[in-house]
Amino acid sequence: MTVPPAPVSALSAGSAFAGLDVLVTAVLMLDDRFTVRYANPAAENLFALSRNLMLHHTLDEVFSHDEALSTALTAARTNHAGYSDYDVKLNALGRAEVHHLICSVTPIDLPGEFRYLLEMRPITQQIKAAREERILDQTQANRELVRNLAHEIRNPLGGIRGAAQLLDAELDRADLREYTRVVMQEADRLQSLMDRMLTPHRLPQLGALNIHEVVERVRSVIVAEFPDGIRIRRDYDTSLPMLSGDREQLIQAVLNIVRNAAQAMDGHGEIELRTRIARSITLARRRYRHAITLQVIDNGPGISDSVRERVFYPLVSGREGGSGLGLTLAQTFINQHHGTIEFDSVPGRTCFTVIVPLPEETAAGAPGAPSGHARNDATTSTPSFAAN
Ligand SMILES: Nc1ncnc2c1ncn2[C@@H]1O[C@H](COP(=O)(O)OP(=O)(O)O)[C@@H](O)[C@H]1O
Ligand SMILES: [Mg+2]
Repeated sequence: MTVPPAPVSALSAGSAFAGLDVLVTAVLMLDDRFTVRYANPAAENLFALSRNLMLHHTLDEVFSHDEALSTALTAARTNHAGYSDYDVKLNALGRAEVHHLICSVTPIDLPGEFRYLLEMRPITQQIKAAREERILDQTQANRELVRNLAHEIRNPLGGIRGAAQLLDAELDRADLREYTRVVMQEADRLQSLMDRMLTPHRLPQLGALNIHEVVERVRSVIVAEFPDGIRIRRDYDTSLPMLSGDREQLIQAVLNIVRNAAQAMDGHGEIELRTRIARSITLARRRYRHAITLQVIDNGPGISDSVRERVFYPLVSGREGGSGLGLTLAQTFINQHHGTIEFDSVPGRTCFTVIVPLPEETAAGAPGAPSGHARNDATTSTPSFAAN
């Protein structure tokens, strides 16, 4: 469809629709010739096009798109009715990236001026949000199940251990006492496993914390555990503001992730620790202005397909002798800080990203407020964290 561009109106789109500027959804405003009269910043971001490249051009001069959008627009013009949830494929002319979008068209009754409001959301984002929601629900259900199960196992365990101990004291044959010892040892092992499964119920004790304090502590533990073979590269944004967090929980969470990386590489390879600020981020259905991201990147074999979809589930392990609790615990702790853990993994590069939102007051202040520096020493006290 080719429509000649309409004459430019004297009315400034920016000021007439300033409210749309703050939306997360990409919005284009078209006149009745489908000339772009307004584009919000979300649309500029989505299509990586500046407003000037879109304004005063027809939709077809800026984008190539499938029939669905033409149909929706023509129907809106003919019937003067709104159409929502159109599945549209569209790409900016001259750009390779094809956007798969959910699109709504709403006719707006403004005398002679803007006529059609186009709202567009990437489908991948929708799928991602739905997937995250599902994972969140699943994780909560799992956690509940594991807790109940752990309680049920732990209660009779004390009785079993006590009885074995009494029996042990009564036995005078050493060969028989070996059996009671096995019962006691295994009961103890199970007890400590159950204790680890039950720990997450402690609420985080929040305090002002520098993320690099956490990361450096983890680094020194890993350096002590894997003295040769693991090289740790640091790429810190030392200007990150303080976050509000539970020091011990965050150390344990990050340690579990970094230790997994070191173990996956069999103690030989490189781990990069990267800290950054993230802006305007949605976590567990809530939006935050700022968040801190920590990426743990290793050049190991990648997460195997057999566990990939379930790595955060309790007792899922792809490792000989693994408990499968490390990432479950890490996720619980990070969730308690309203954050998330995501990962991307291909053979040769696995990246776990921990995102922890910043409290609004801190973030609203100078985001570059100095709060710490990358330290080069590895002289922190002896490692004392559970081996998950
Ligand atoms: N960086 C990584 N590279 C490859 N596989 C990983 C990585 N991190 C986690 N995994 C996989 O996820 C599984 C679950 O990890 P985790 O919950 O810590 O349990 P565990 O370490 O006890 O097996 C690991 O066993 C491993 O198979
Ligand atoms: Mg682990």
